[in-house]
Amino acid sequence: MLKEKDILGLYPLSKEEIEEILETGLEMKRALRAGEKSLGTLKNKTVVTLFYENSTRTRCSFELAAKYLGAHVVDLGVATSSVQKGETLVDTGKTLDAMRADYMVIRHSAGGAPRLLAKTVQAHVINAGDGMNEHPSQALLDMLTMKEKFRSFRGLKVAILGDIRHSRVAKSNLYGLKKLGAEVTMFAPATLLPTGLADMGATVCASREEAVKDADVVMGLRIQLERQKAGNFPSLGEYAKYYGANEELLRHAKPGALIMHPGPVNRGVELTSALIDGESSRIEDQVLSGVAVRMAMLSLLA
Ligand code: CP
Repeated sequence: MLKEKDILGLYPLSKEEIEEILETGLEMKRALRAGEKSLGTLKNKTVVTLFYENSTRTRCSFELAAKYLGAHVVDLGVATSSVQKGETLVDTGKTLDAMRADYMVIRHSAGGAPRLLAKTVQAHVINAGDGMNEHPSQALLDMLTMKEKFRSFRGLKVAILGDIRHSRVAKSNLYGLKKLGAEVTMFAPATLLPTGLADMGATVCASREEAVKDADVVMGLRIQLERQKAGNFPSLGEYAKYYGANEELLRHAKPGALIMHPGPVNRGVELTSALIDGESSRIEDQVLSGVAVRMAMLSLLA
């Protein structure tokens, strides 16, 4: 059982809670592979999704996860809701609470918005990505994908390359992977590296070759195209050439190292198409893990 009412990040979760979510996620993934889509765990429960930022994977997979568990699911439709008339997050939360929503799944551009909502409402709140803070369900699905292959995280080496500074995915993965005993190496252009990573447990590397040396997993992070306009790197072509991952770079990793990416991917920028579509790629499997781990999160909160 999870200690808190909400799942706001991997930083607040204990090692045991993360392990429980992953174990349950493995069971859910087996059920999905067997074609099971009506589990009934959330029968008579209502899940509302509130996406103040765009999403394909996270929103659709939370919706499918909730439906496969038998819940009623409603999307707030932020763009056509009273948010556009100026209704605050707190008032929106109170309104949905009054409708007896049991869960609220929120993505917001402001770090901390899910915590504010969680304090306001009785419903379980799940953070679906808040600003540059955390994206817990993404990190959990990444870890589920790794667990399925490696079973244990102890001594596992995970290399994360890309826009780490703006990445909530990188932070949540770092918190979760370190708690379970993995080593996390990171590499990015200096303009895309935040301070304090070493204090958070990461090994920050001077080159991408050093970061992926003997790695079991190589994870590319999305380059947010608006960062180029901000002058954080000269061009996408140069980014791909000097900072991206390609087949030659992969020779430094362990043979058969997994290629992962949270998506959406900029083909030929963070990863070459050969890596994205190659046999070591787990990018599509991550998407299935996403439905499974979100089913686990919803079930365990119930
Ligand atoms: N990885 C991820 O969060 O993707 P979406 O933005 O499509 O949800």
